[in-house]
Amino acid sequence: MTSIDPLTFPPGFLWGAATASYQIEGAAAEAGRTPSIWDTFSHTPGNTLGGDTGDVACDHYHRYREDVALMADLGLQSYRFSIAWPRVQPGGSGSMNQQGLDFYRRLVDELLERDILPWVTLYHWDLPQELEDAGGWPARDTAARFAEYAALVHGALGDRVRHWSTFNEPWCSAFLGYASGVHAPGRKHAPDALAAMHHLLLGHGQAVQAIRAADAGAQLGITLNLYAISPADPAEPGDLDAARRIDGLANRVFLDPVLLGRYPEDVKQDLAGVSDFGFVRDGDLETVAAPLDFLGINYYSRHVVAAPDPDVTAEPYWRAPTSWPGSEDVRFQKRPGVPVTDMDWEVDAPGLTETLVRVAKDYPAVPLYITENGAAYRDAVEPDGSVDDQDRVAYFDAHYRACHDAIAAGAPLHGYFAWSLLDNFEWAWGYTKRFGMVRVDYETQERTVKASGHRYREVIKHNGLAG
Ligand code: FCB
Repeated sequence: MTSIDPLTFPPGFLWGAATASYQIEGAAAEAGRTPSIWDTFSHTPGNTLGGDTGDVACDHYHRYREDVALMADLGLQSYRFSIAWPRVQPGGSGSMNQQGLDFYRRLVDELLERDILPWVTLYHWDLPQELEDAGGWPARDTAARFAEYAALVHGALGDRVRHWSTFNEPWCSAFLGYASGVHAPGRKHAPDALAAMHHLLLGHGQAVQAIRAADAGAQLGITLNLYAISPADPAEPGDLDAARRIDGLANRVFLDPVLLGRYPEDVKQDLAGVSDFGFVRDGDLETVAAPLDFLGINYYSRHVVAAPDPDVTAEPYWRAPTSWPGSEDVRFQKRPGVPVTDMDWEVDAPGLTETLVRVAKDYPAVPLYITENGAAYRDAVEPDGSVDDQDRVAYFDAHYRACHDAIAAGAPLHGYFAWSLLDNFEWAWGYTKRFGMVRVDYETQERTVKASGHRYREVIKHNGLAG
């Protein structure tokens, strides 16, 4: 146990904020960018709320200077952003698009000029449409395409970027993209979702190997979305088993291959009716488990789960696609009285501590970063234009404290990125869900720092909650 002042984080703790290309950039057809699966998906009627698309989003492509100035004003020490694959390598193969790369060069230069550490995510869900047409993530070749793209981007930006995450939340790409189909590309076929999962992980390992070979000093990692999981009734064996299954599918099926070089046996058994894991070839898992410099964790909430209702027969996956192949019948529950955000996600800050401590305990030591954490709320704009988002302030405060608790309990947590810098395109929810510390008026593109942003400036300044 480390003993530290309860209000102060360890020296050098990194404070940042995160965004993603398709959620903020806009300029969808500019300077050689070709469509990604999210352009196709959002332009297909019925897929996003209100038919919203990322065509314009926060127009960050044109306003990046103003946005970096905002980051500097907040005192951000690091900015986590993602590269739009079809902007820098249109179509997903072949040569690079210099105009697309130039955008990211300008962005990185602007950040460095203001002493803000650039933290690049290579894939935050915008697969070039051509690669989806060729089979998408269920096709093994997509992993090789990704590794090639990753090496090319590193070749172009590696002189100024040291921190690279391969993927953001492969769980979402695999299970929301190919099982329930609520995310792009919107396919609903559980066996394909599992193949996608493996090829995302393989692409991660291949990219890590490729970048490492070119640049021994690069800081390489991946970002996983991890959940705290609880049984509805810890005295009920059926609920305990439901928690084991969902922990397996949400957390361990990614953590184990990346950090231990194997898929969990119990999860493979749970999935026996869906897939025989025949997509795993000799040597794959060694590649997937290539050594990392950090693990990024996105934490939002807890899943509370219960055994199947004995009176209801679950529909098998091929009739009722869900995001939980092989565990379609597990019941997800809400705890009475626990506050929820505008996403209907329970606010559970202790779950963040629990998650960090669990990773530190169950897996080989690797530096941890919270690469996303935040909350959507319905913000009210005051007559003077200000946004006094006290619900978000309270959410963040509780989670900063939860990070501090995890460090005190020995978890090697080195930094925290708030989600998000700006209100943005929240995927299938379109612009209806606001996560920003900075409000965006989508009519005028005006930015307004919310109370949570002003609060974050103080937290960063004091390296803790003293202010
Ligand atoms: C995460 C995504 C991010 C954002 C937040 C709310 O799953 O990585 O893009 O949508 O959720």
